[in-house]
Amino acid sequence: MRGRALVLIGFMGCGKSAAGRALAHRLRLPRFDTDEMVVAHFGMPITQIFAQLGEAQFRERESAVLQKISSDQECVVVTGGGIVLRRENGNALRRLGFVAHLFAREDVIFDRVSRRSTRPLLQTANPRTTVMKLMQTRAALYRAIADASIDTSDLTHAQVADAVLDAWQHHPETAAL
Ligand code: S3P
Repeated sequence: MRGRALVLIGFMGCGKSAAGRALAHRLRLPRFDTDEMVVAHFGMPITQIFAQLGEAQFRERESAVLQKISSDQECVVVTGGGIVLRRENGNALRRLGFVAHLFAREDVIFDRVSRRSTRPLLQTANPRTTVMKLMQTRAALYRAIADASIDTSDLTHAQVADAVLDAWQHHPETAAL
């Protein structure tokens, strides 16, 4: 049995955080953001977690916080872009509920992620190539667990929220509830 959560997955910069906030507000549902939960656990920002403890520890905690989200409650779950790297996380996300995959064109993603330096994986000599490579290796992982995929390239945050809600409401499993 799958839960009643609305789960957002997708690459960095696809709009998960903003859409998650808008959706939780509109639906008056609690919001769980795995990045925020990991940051709260360690008491330091993600860049510092990666620099001081390493990516492996970040990933361990990311899986652990995901397991803490109960599938009994209706809620909005926002995830970090790399959460799909572990198969067990994909299963856990599908157990929680409807999985919406947000994506955008590579140039749009690059433009969005370039505005901030809060993403340790993109602090490379050539971030554009890094974005391209990571997007290529992860695309299939997102699609494998998604119930719906939404292109956010030309949408505002509110439009993304509308599109996610529309996909959720029209999904066959939701209609059967
Ligand atoms: C990551 C994405 C980030 C954050 C961490 C690693 C990734 O979250 O979890 O920097 O591996 O794609 P966002 O997708 O919210 O940027």
